Amino acid sequence: MGQKFASKVESTFDKYWYYENSVQNTESDIEFINEKFEEIYGDQPRKLREDFCGTGMLMCDWVKQGKNYRAVGIDNDPEPIEYGKTNHLSKLNSSEKDRVQYIEGDVLDSKKVNGVDVVTAFNFSYLCFQERETLLNYFKEVRASLGDKGVFFMDLLGGPECQTEMEEKTKHEGYTYFWECESFNPINNEVIYNINFKRKGEKKRRKVFSYRWRLWSLPELRDLLKDAGFGNTIAYWEDEDDDDDEEGNGEFYATEHAENCDAWVTYIAATP
Ligand SMILES: C[S@@+](CC[C@H](N)C(=O)[O-])C[C@H]1O[C@@H](n2cnc3c(N)ncnc32)[C@H](O)[C@@H]1O
Repeated sequence: MGQKFASKVESTFDKYWYYENSVQNTESDIEFINEKFEEIYGDQPRKLREDFCGTGMLMCDWVKQGKNYRAVGIDNDPEPIEYGKTNHLSKLNSSEKDRVQYIEGDVLDSKKVNGVDVVTAFNFSYLCFQERETLLNYFKEVRASLGDKGVFFMDLLGGPECQTEMEEKTKHEGYTYFWECESFNPINNEVIYNINFKRKGEKKRRKVFSYRWRLWSLPELRDLLKDAGFGNTIAYWEDEDDDDDEEGNGEFYATEHAENCDAWVTYIAATP
């Protein structure tokens, strides 16, 4: 058993640790942001605004890239912010700490955070905005914080499996992570997803995290981004290796045509 996990299994159930260990990969997020920003502008982004930052793991890793890197994260729930301060911020050196800021607040009211190079809305968090007007207002806020140069990156999930009641499991060392689609309403595209966990030898913990989202489609989002004042949007799709397994390889390329599959996760970039 790995040391990281061993210390956790003895302690009480720490839901943010299990969440981060199961769904977050900040190294690949940062690599993706840097690569795509470079493709668009020919240089590297420095200042990141992490919307819906939760524990702020991404922004704390962002500033480790060097002394010119700054980050601000916004979340309206004090609980993950507290976890992030204790478990991520506290591990940074003093220069890195000075370049990170947690804001407890609503991303719909974030005008105070201007002049950033990149805004991220990852792990589909913006799908919580189910009304067109609310999502449009959010995109306008993001547009205002970018100035004339910058990129708004968001991820998106889709495909018929995302609308099908099911539970998918992924085994990790000492525990199993479950992604459950509890319901999908085709009238308004509202979907309820739950994250469940089961530690070895313990009963399953249901709805440790639960999300009530609207499954916006990629073209709907592009239209809204345009209405919010973004000049251009780029749709990405995951590449595959030249073997027969049809599995994505974690590399994303810009495209205007893709082959649909049962379930997909991809990215959109929007620029001024
Ligand atoms: C799916 S979690 C994502 C956490 C983290 N960004 C990640 O990638 O794992 C969604 C987060 O959005 C926050 N949130 C939801 N509505 C919000 C709002 N209107 N303004 C700010 N944060 C919000 C929640 O508190 C929660 O931490």
